[in-house]
Amino acid sequence: MSVALVTGASSGIGAAIAIAFAEAGWEVMAAGRDESRLAEVADVSDNIATWAGELTDSGDCDELVEDAIEEFGAIACLVNSAGIMLRGDATETSDDDWRDVLCLNLDIPFFLSRAATPHLQRSKGSIVNISSYWGLHADARTVAYATSKGGLIMLTKAMAKDLAGDGVSVNAICPGGVDTPMLAAAAEDTDLEVDEFLGEIAEFSPNGRIASPEEIAALVLFLASDAARHITGTAIPIDGGLAA
Ligand SMILES: NC(=O)c1ccc[n+]([C@@H]2O[C@H](COP(=O)([O-])OP(=O)(O)OC[C@H]3O[C@@H](n4cnc5c(N)ncnc54)[C@H](O)[C@@H]3O)[C@@H](O)[C@H]2O)c1
Repeated sequence: MSVALVTGASSGIGAAIAIAFAEAGWEVMAAGRDESRLAEVADVSDNIATWAGELTDSGDCDELVEDAIEEFGAIACLVNSAGIMLRGDATETSDDDWRDVLCLNLDIPFFLSRAATPHLQRSKGSIVNISSYWGLHADARTVAYATSKGGLIMLTKAMAKDLAGDGVSVNAICPGGVDTPMLAAAAEDTDLEVDEFLGEIAEFSPNGRIASPEEIAALVLFLASDAARHITGTAIPIDGGLAA
């Protein structure tokens, strides 16, 4: 059985990815911060083991990869889904805001990818990084977030070049609006109720809708499959036509 290590797995897109992999017969190390929400995710399938903890530095990342290897003996896919979104222009973004966003959205995927590389080389596996539409196209008041997600795309491309010869694929996906707690929290930065805010996001999308976390998980699962072996170094929009 193949093994996936998924971060941000206690909610939203990460939880849907952990469940999609488990239901497809993968073994999953679901990493997240909230133990009770992780337990709910693990309840869905016997294939899911959990790892609860904050990811703040390379030591945490090394420990997570070591624990996954101890639990399952291999890693065939690393999914970097943990992330934070912060609105703000440069003058609104404090030193701590900048460091927090760049740390979780860019440093942590790098540290985990580095730690997982020898295992992925052995399994000829894959890395899937959850970037964003805002990693491809900046918007007003996205200075830290767009920078982190754009950096994540270039990390993806650079690692894809290094690892292609080893049979390891590295891809990023770039969702538009996805119905998760992150998007609901983003409503707090506006004058709108959550439902009104989600309606505006849907209207902004050319196909008039918001994605479900399960739709995002399906693309990640495909990128980790043998059918996608020739796809590497890409940043694939999944956004109802927004980036077109
Ligand atoms: N929801 C959207 O519209 C959308 C759009 C594009 C990209 N994304 C990206 O998708 C990914 C998943 O986001 P989501 O929408 O599922 O939101 P979410 O808030 O449900 O998930 C983010 C997860 O990251 C975890 N996390 C936060 N700080 C952490 C830390 N220090 N250590 C470990 N885990 C930490 C949270 O506990 C949470 O489980 C993120 O990288 C986000 O930027 C989301």
